[in-house]
Amino acid sequence: MTRILVTGGAGFIGTHVAAALRDAGHQVSIVDCGHPGAHRTPLPDTVAGAPLHRADLRDRAAVAELLAGIDVVVHQAAMVGLGVDLGDLPEYVGCNDLGTAVLLAEMARAGIHRLVLASSMVVYGEGAYECPRHGPVRPAPRTIADLDTGRFEPGCPRCGSALEPGLVDEDAPLEPRSVYAATKVAQEHLTAAWSRQTGGAVVALRYHNVYGPGMPRDTPYSGVAAIFRSALAAGRAPRVFEDGGQRRDFVHVLDVAAANLAAVTATGARGGWHAYNIASGQPATIGEVAAGLARAAGGPAPVVTGEFRLGDVRHVVASPARAEAVLGFRARVGPADGIAEFAHATLRG
Ligand code: UD1
Repeated sequence: MTRILVTGGAGFIGTHVAAALRDAGHQVSIVDCGHPGAHRTPLPDTVAGAPLHRADLRDRAAVAELLAGIDVVVHQAAMVGLGVDLGDLPEYVGCNDLGTAVLLAEMARAGIHRLVLASSMVVYGEGAYECPRHGPVRPAPRTIADLDTGRFEPGCPRCGSALEPGLVDEDAPLEPRSVYAATKVAQEHLTAAWSRQTGGAVVALRYHNVYGPGMPRDTPYSGVAAIFRSALAAGRAPRVFEDGGQRRDFVHVLDVAAANLAAVTATGARGGWHAYNIASGQPATIGEVAAGLARAAGGPAPVVTGEFRLGDVRHVVASPARAEAVLGFRARVGPADGIAEFAHATLRG
């Protein structure tokens, strides 16, 4: 039995992670600050049968107290989403990076050497692309002029040719394109520095688009699956941005929880800093996801609006091969079944 502290344990993903760790026989403690960006209803008293400690990770004394007797920290706490406006910038950096820094400092002081970090595929920016003439290339961010005229596919940075999207692996360069993404890259770098200095083991899980029961309803910080699901529940058609051809990998939250369990074991087996894509391995377009949800919900068909958001990347789809080879993790829920089930799943307030 391992004693594990789950940060952000009252959140959508953290709740499932805590339950999976408990079901595997570990002793779980939960901390969550109940951030208003993620929680619009009061926090429960317990999560997965464990008492919920309400604390902000920026509070050093509280973190020191929570770490007493802990073997592994599973760090899920973060402000997520694309951000509403730049006024959110200090809060993103405060929660995600200062919070992580305090956690790492106190872990070092307490002699705790095992950490699982909830990272994200947003660290990559655009996914992998190949130009027919120039081979693998990194497209520049799309311009407003391109997006305004419906040119959604990024072109080759050298010749402008149409590109073939491919699978991103963990060695791809990091290129954060939003404030949130920048804070996730900083978390990765901070934990890598901590690992080098302390000899600690870090497994960073780069989640792709997580969905499933307990996902927060439509908020400015929600992922697209919850936005579509909330629209359908209100009898409205899902609004698909761009032309609906943008590709993502939708990974079920139960698979993400299983990946965290595998990562906890991995931190006990070897040291150093390692990152893994956590994905279903079955990419889908946003148009397909909207249509699948609408069909399963018996709701109105999606509307493709041509709108766009500047921070959005076009395609980001990963190879799940390394997580399978090293962590023994393989997603069990495919998007076709998972999305159909999600059409009727309970969301949180
Ligand atoms: C999402 C999360 C990000 C997380 C990542 C990996 C948000 C806002 N983004 O990034 O935090 O790290 O998954 O888990 O939580 N779209 C529509 N209609 C809408 C809203 C969005 O068509 O009403 C489109 C967007 O233009 C985009 C795609 O859906 O092309 C995905 O959007 P979203 O889920 O918000 O962001 P990701 O970039 O995939």
